[in-house]
Amino acid sequence: MSGCPFTSAAKPIPATLLTEEALQDPFEIYKRLRAEQPVAFVTEQNFWLVTRYNDCEFILSHPEKFSSREAVSSTNAYRRSPEALRILSGSKGHPRARTLIMSDPPEHTRYRAILQRSLSPGKTLRQLATRMQEIIDDLIDGFAERGECEFVREFAYPLPMRIVATILDVPPERIDMLKAWSDDFISVQAGNIPDDRIVDAARHTIEFEEYILAKIEERRREPRDDFFGRLIQPHEGEQPLTTQELLNFALQILVGGNESTTNFLGNGMYELMRRPHLVAELQREPGRIPEVVEEILRYESPLQGLFRVALEEQDFDGVRVPKGAKLMLNFGSANRDETYYGDGEFDPHRDNRSTLHLAFGRGIHACAGQAIARREGMLAFETLIRRLPDLRLSPSRAPQRQTLFSLRGMKKLYLEFTQAPRLRAST
Ligand code: HEM
Repeated sequence: MSGCPFTSAAKPIPATLLTEEALQDPFEIYKRLRAEQPVAFVTEQNFWLVTRYNDCEFILSHPEKFSSREAVSSTNAYRRSPEALRILSGSKGHPRARTLIMSDPPEHTRYRAILQRSLSPGKTLRQLATRMQEIIDDLIDGFAERGECEFVREFAYPLPMRIVATILDVPPERIDMLKAWSDDFISVQAGNIPDDRIVDAARHTIEFEEYILAKIEERRREPRDDFFGRLIQPHEGEQPLTTQELLNFALQILVGGNESTTNFLGNGMYELMRRPHLVAELQREPGRIPEVVEEILRYESPLQGLFRVALEEQDFDGVRVPKGAKLMLNFGSANRDETYYGDGEFDPHRDNRSTLHLAFGRGIHACAGQAIARREGMLAFETLIRRLPDLRLSPSRAPQRQTLFSLRGMKKLYLEFTQAPRLRAST
């Protein structure tokens, strides 16, 4: 049956997926996996890696066969520290709930309906659109007169963070705190937080929870038509969210709205900068930016993979996956599957409407913030190439990629341009 694609012992696929080289560019290995081992068991990690589009789509479309209870990993480094566990279970600690991305129907159906109403992408987008443009212009003003920037730190990180802060009604002076909470949460889940940081991270979790609960209390006293206000608004025939569920919703907006969008913006800018002709085309025809945004999402999917658990034994073209097995759906690979995407190369004229990429997932769990993320990308790219028309890669400082298996993004992206005036004098 399938060998292990993560070790050199895997004879049919000699390269390994966790080497530095493969993390920089895993797509040749994905191609071989799709051809030779489309559903491959990864011994060390004890999960099955699913690399073909059709298999990923099938799994996403059948939540009754594949559970989301471990969708976003689950290392939970807190277990390594009794002190952290004590802090989390103390009088102020709230037991953790699994909602939305880590839940299955029928609970998920209720959660999703409440989220849809509260996040209300259409309404939120209308409220956010002006704010998005202001933030984008402010960030560009921050480096416009310098003639250079490190795009990830100065733009791709702060933009999504400020948008999330706007949704969660966190004032600008507390954004660094919000970012620290989000980073801590991600590294605790990924298990790569150093031992001496775990206790601090546990304290941060409690701080986050207390902060959000205070916001919710505020809304109970003075109802407002914003995310938290809508979240707690009673709805006939519907059980209101518990405190733990409310906290988990806030956390998912914080984490979901943040890291993936940063990676999307970094990936997109890098792809644009490598293609000056395309940038010139988009400067002439900004109306084409939305279709290029879809191609960026397909070609460099920010979330390369997430998990499902098989609720019954499954057969994938003769490969039997047992009940209870964990599967990683590899969107990065599915989105370059030759069945739909030919050679998979970046094609700014590709019509992604015929086979919609899986960068935002599919089915009942499809990304709840996709309209927000798309709008952020479109406005950001349009404004950057308009205000800084000769924006280009730095000839002296090479870009660096992040090397994480499940996320694809840039660590550093150095850009140059002819100095431009600020829009506003005081920013
Ligand atoms: C380019 C940026 C983004 C990417 C690539 C992305 C990707 C995804 C994917 C693949 C899923 C499906 C998970 C699954 O099937 O298990 C998802 C779900 C989700 N995303 Fe996003 N996301 C992005 C931006 C956002 C933003 C901006 C927000 C919120 C403001 C957000 C909030 C969520 C939430 C709450 C879910 C869970 C939905 C559910 O389980 O019903 N995401 N995202």
